[in-house]
Amino acid sequence: MEDSAPGRACPMNYRYRPGDLARRDDLETETLYVIGGLYGNRFALEAVLAMRDAERGDVTLVFNGDFHWFDADAATFEGVNRKVLGHRALRGNVETEIAGEDDGAGCGCAYPEWVSEAEVERSNRILDRLRETARKFPGARAALANLPMHLTARVGPVRVGIVHGDAESLAGWGFSQERLHENLANIARWFTQSGVGVFASSHTCLPVAAAIGGGILINNGAAGMPNFRDTRYGVITRIGLAPSPNSALYGTRAAGVHIDALPVHYDHGAWLGQFLEVWPEGSDARASYLSRILHGPAYLPSRAAREGFTLGELAAGIAPAETGAA
Ligand SMILES: [Fe+2]
Repeated sequence: MEDSAPGRACPMNYRYRPGDLARRDDLETETLYVIGGLYGNRFALEAVLAMRDAERGDVTLVFNGDFHWFDADAATFEGVNRKVLGHRALRGNVETEIAGEDDGAGCGCAYPEWVSEAEVERSNRILDRLRETARKFPGARAALANLPMHLTARVGPVRVGIVHGDAESLAGWGFSQERLHENLANIARWFTQSGVGVFASSHTCLPVAAAIGGGILINNGAAGMPNFRDTRYGVITRIGLAPSPNSALYGTRAAGVHIDALPVHYDHGAWLGQFLEVWPEGSDARASYLSRILHGPAYLPSRAAREGFTLGELAAGIAPAETGAA
C-alpha cells in the first residue's frame, strides 16, 4: 500500500510546527468546550448548545474540525455550517477537502494501517458526495477554506493547544489511543515546543485522555457518534475554572482547572432517522458507520481514561471488556 494513496496520505498543506502554537493566545475564557467530530449530527449540536446553556459565566465553544461528514443533504449541511461558524472553529480534514477540489488526498484522513482498504475507499466516496453538496454553497466553502488549523486558549493558568489531529499535522494520528504511548518522546517535545499545558484533539475516531509527556492530552473522539460499546452518546472536552454542571465520563484537574470528557446525549432516534434517509441501503456511510451509530465501537471508558484521569459514575457503570482491548 502506498502512503500517497487517497485517504492514506498526509498532504503537505496539512502540516505545521508545534512551535507555531507558542504565540499570544487566540482566546481566553472561563469555560472551554472542544467539540471535535460532530460529523454533521445536528441533534448532537443541539445537545451541546443545551449543555452550554446549563453553564454559568463565560463559555467558549471551539469546533475543532470534522463538523461535516454525514450531512450530505443540502439543508442539514447549510444549517450545521451556519451554526458552527457562529462559534470558533478549526478546519478538519473533511472541511479542508470539501473546501477544495480533489487534489488526490481523498478524505484526507491519513488513515493508518489498521484501517482497511475497503473502509478507506468508502470514506473517499463519502467525501466525494459531501463535496458535491458543498459545491452548492460557494460562500460556505470559502469560509471553510479560511479556517485555521489550530487555536490556543487560556483557561485561568492553563494554556490549551486546540488541534484537529496532532501537534504537527491536521490529520496526524500521534494523539490516537493506539499510538499515544509509543509516541511519548514526540509528545514531550510537542509540549515543550508549543508551550501549552494541555492539548485538546480529535480526528482519530476514539477518545483518550492522559497526563503524559509533561502535559495533559485529551482527545474527545467524536461528538456526533457513540464512542463506547453499547452507548449512544457522543463525547466532548470541557476545560473550566469551575466544575462542570453536566456530569463527566472521566476527568482530572491541572493547576485547579477542571478537565473533563462529557457525554453528549443527543436524540438518537431522530439522528438515526435522518442518517438512514440521507444514506440509503447499500450506501458507503451505512456500510462503514451504521453499526457504530447503533451499538458503539468495541471500546470502553476505562481504556480512554488513562494516567491521571478518574472515571465518573456514568462511565464506571460500563463493565470492562473481558480482553480489555479496544
Ligand atoms: Fe478528521
